Amino acid sequence: MTEAVRLDQVYKAFVPSGRAAEPLLALEDVTLAAHPGEFIGLIGPSGCGKSTVLNLLAGLIRPSAGQVYHLGKPVRGINDRIGYITQDDNLLPWRSMRANVEFGLELRGVGKRERRERARELIELVGLSGFENHYPHELSGGMRKRASIVRTLVYDSPVVLMDEPFGPLDAQTRVILQDELLKLWDLRRPAVLFVTHDLVEAIALSDRILTFTGRPGRIKREHVVDLPRPRDVYRIHELDRFKELYDALWTDIREEIAAANEGVSS
Ligand SMILES: Nc1ncnc2c1ncn2[C@@H]1O[C@H](COP(=O)(O)OP(=O)(O)OP(=O)(O)O)[C@@H](O)[C@H]1O
Ligand SMILES: [Mg+2]
Repeated sequence: MTEAVRLDQVYKAFVPSGRAAEPLLALEDVTLAAHPGEFIGLIGPSGCGKSTVLNLLAGLIRPSAGQVYHLGKPVRGINDRIGYITQDDNLLPWRSMRANVEFGLELRGVGKRERRERARELIELVGLSGFENHYPHELSGGMRKRASIVRTLVYDSPVVLMDEPFGPLDAQTRVILQDELLKLWDLRRPAVLFVTHDLVEAIALSDRILTFTGRPGRIKREHVVDLPRPRDVYRIHELDRFKELYDALWTDIREEIAAANEGVSS
């Protein structure tokens, strides 16, 4: 079975602008893989290289050393076959919500009728029916997030990258969107790499969670989320196994915070 994605002993150094600036090592010897259909959570301190991992897979940057694969092939140049939901919603302000959702299909040459049909199904699933002709500035923050997620999932990429997609939303809307995301994901089950700072969210969504060390980012530990699906995101925190996983993740994070503080004081 071809892996969905793989990073093999990847290092990434950035050379900051400005003379005599030292290169900054963002990722150090990172090896990770996702199987088709697997939902993987990525957690780690700010600046540990989580977005860098996604940018490498999207082909926006190249590794300094090591290999990056998408569907078994090395990533060379911009990888427009991968779905990428960045932190900002990136909707086109001059297009209606429906036209935004259909945009990727349009670029891929899908005919109008099929576009409409595929968009309709997903728009309905996230409760945006009736808002098809609204422009992004006429939608709430949560609605824009829904539209941007649907816009990426509608073209059925086998691999989808999500970078803190629910970051700026209130706690209540986040949980509702997590529930909707799991339902959308379940339709075609793409492999997902999902970056979040929210431990509860990572457990609720993921099959596996990888924690990172502080910079330079290395994989610290793998946590298998062996909770049955479908999951009730509203009540998942009541499960005993949830509490164990939460404690294990929090231990990882605490160690990294302590290490960062030592670095500062020494
Ligand atoms: N294009 C770039 N040029 C220079 N440095 C960069 C670039 N992208 C990222 N970096 C640096 O690499 C490190 C990792 O950044 P990255 O955005 O991957 O972190 P992150 O784990 O996503 O953090 P956060 O949780 O805050 O989003 C940071 O120190 C950042 O300044
Ligand atoms: Mg980031």
